Amino acid sequence: MDERVRELFIKVLKGARDRYALGLDWGGDTAAEVAKVLDLLPNLDHLPPFDIRKPSAPAPFLKHLSPFLAEHDDLLPGLTELAVELPWSYAYSKKKDEPLLHERLGWYEFIGPQAPIKSRTFGFGIAFAAEGLSYDSHIHAAAEVFCVLAGEGEYRTGDSTVVVLPGEFCYFAPYKVHSSTRGKGPGVNIYSWSGDAVSVSGFTGFPGFP
Ligand SMILES: [Fe+2]
Repeated sequence: MDERVRELFIKVLKGARDRYALGLDWGGDTAAEVAKVLDLLPNLDHLPPFDIRKPSAPAPFLKHLSPFLAEHDDLLPGLTELAVELPWSYAYSKKKDEPLLHERLGWYEFIGPQAPIKSRTFGFGIAFAAEGLSYDSHIHAAAEVFCVLAGEGEYRTGDSTVVVLPGEFCYFAPYKVHSSTRGKGPGVNIYSWSGDAVSVSGFTGFPGFP
């Protein structure tokens, strides 16, 4: 593996960990979940050998993300250079009403079941959503926390709607159906999944999802 990419990967991961740790100040379920995930993180100064797969083609949404990161270099040091080297995932369920979802939504997991640093019990990564993206009701077995680096979004569960701004955190309990709509500007979040990190997320109403 390219040593430069490995060093960037660790630099960005450390920056993401430090930003995510600010969630300890949020109290309640968010702080408890953040503490749990920080405990699960390996020592980033002594990582076992790992491999970062090269992308076979650039992720479609990089045409939105790369220019945005270039203008916001302070988001996470190293992320602008690293983003183009990563095999991002995007659009896990095809949606007839959002045929360009794969150009407007994507994520990269540093740690997780399929990530360079393996874990079946938690995931830790970065997610991107384009301006105005509507992310319909979806559900997963993992508990989720995200920390907003950029952009604002409205997040809905069955019983509440909150607007989340840069620097803020949000928590979703396992199996809590949630949806979101991006506001102005692209959204970049650090996210964690804990508990059952293997079962995938799905839009509600799709086969296999309530
Ligand atoms: Fe989610």
